Amino acid sequence: MTDAPEYIPGLAGVPAARSSICLIDGSVGKLQYRGYPIEVLAERCSYEEVAYLLVFGRLPTTTQLDEFRNQMIAERGLKFRIIDLLKTLPESGEPMDALTAAVAAMGMFYKGDHISDPEFLRLSVIRLLAKVPTIVAAWDRIRKGDDPIKPSTELGHAANFLYMLEGKVPTSLAVKVFDVALILHAEHSMNASTFTARVTGSTLTDPYAVVASAIGSLAGPLHGGANEQVLSTLDGISDRSANGIRRWAEDRLARKEKVMGFGHRVYKVKDPRATILQGLATQLFAKFGSTPEYDVAVELETQMADLVGGKGIYPNVDFYSGIVYQKLGIPTDLFTPIFAISRVAGWLAHLLEQLEGNRIFRPTQIWVGEADRAFVSMDERS
Ligand code: SDX
Repeated sequence: MTDAPEYIPGLAGVPAARSSICLIDGSVGKLQYRGYPIEVLAERCSYEEVAYLLVFGRLPTTTQLDEFRNQMIAERGLKFRIIDLLKTLPESGEPMDALTAAVAAMGMFYKGDHISDPEFLRLSVIRLLAKVPTIVAAWDRIRKGDDPIKPSTELGHAANFLYMLEGKVPTSLAVKVFDVALILHAEHSMNASTFTARVTGSTLTDPYAVVASAIGSLAGPLHGGANEQVLSTLDGISDRSANGIRRWAEDRLARKEKVMGFGHRVYKVKDPRATILQGLATQLFAKFGSTPEYDVAVELETQMADLVGGKGIYPNVDFYSGIVYQKLGIPTDLFTPIFAISRVAGWLAHLLEQLEGNRIFRPTQIWVGEADRAFVSMDERS
């Protein structure tokens, strides 16, 4: 067929929606949520405020934010059967798998009339935003043989997660840093897990199944799973001199192996989120002491810029996030679940936008196989 559309691997550069949620200009490192620059939101807002902006499309008034916060606090708790489900899972299992299982099961308790019911949708949004952090923290406690810590009814979203994880009220610095990290990871236009959410949502399945599918997509090492691998990458560099780090990078690139935390489909300069996360890391060092991996990371960034900066390969959001989370005392295998805790706001914003003018996703393919083949019976096959 002469007019067959061209096949683009990974749909690179192919629009999958018309959206007003997140604007990215990867050539200059611009990132905006609903038109507001990420730097301003990170500096001036809380995660709750940004989640409201993403989902409802405007910054909340004080009254709207208080009501939203109270609704989320009221929905933080988990059904006891969800906790029982988590207790049946192997404690050595991946936290992202536990999260997928629990979120999918949540939907069994909240079967709405139909996804076209605005009240069902609104409640689902609140419940998912509020309960995903509780599931992650509960899983971490249960796998260690401890009982989950009941969510606070007083603390904010970021502080409550750290409290449920540690069992003590976090410092104001830890809360501020973690809150900014949640803001930075909340949304990023048509990334793989958000595209997954839109495809799943386009079939009119329930929001819990949509988020469970997006969590599965985020878990992959080329996407959200990279943040867990960056620290082990940095730890794996034995010669930490500038020359040693350069040789390590040259060897890796020569073997065509990806360096975790670098590169991006859209950004061809340093990810603006990486810059902000780098600043958060240094804020923590002043209080909690430096991290040896940080110096290695900064030198690796310098060497990689010299080696592959010309190809537009620079640090992405995952390169410094792990150093921040490690400094906050968060276990490495919870880094990606934390990405999910934050990104659930973006997934839900895109689900609502998809439903506004929905058409089920069903792309085509370019046939490269054989057709109309004569059947071969078993005794004739070699
Ligand atoms: C996230 O999409 C989003 O917005 C995602 C995200 C979000 O907020 O949702 O920003 C979050 O997922 C960040 C990315 C985290 N993943 C990693 O850090 C894994 C390492 N990065 C790469 O796998 C890669 O850069 C991707 C997956 C991020 C992007 O892949 P692309 O756009 O498909 O690029 P590619 O794999 O086709 O690479 C193009 C070239 C290749 O070289 P050539 O074959 O052309 O010579 O760039 C090279 C690649 O080898 N390259 C890298 C590299 N990333 C790309 N080489 C070494 N190390 C890397 N990290």
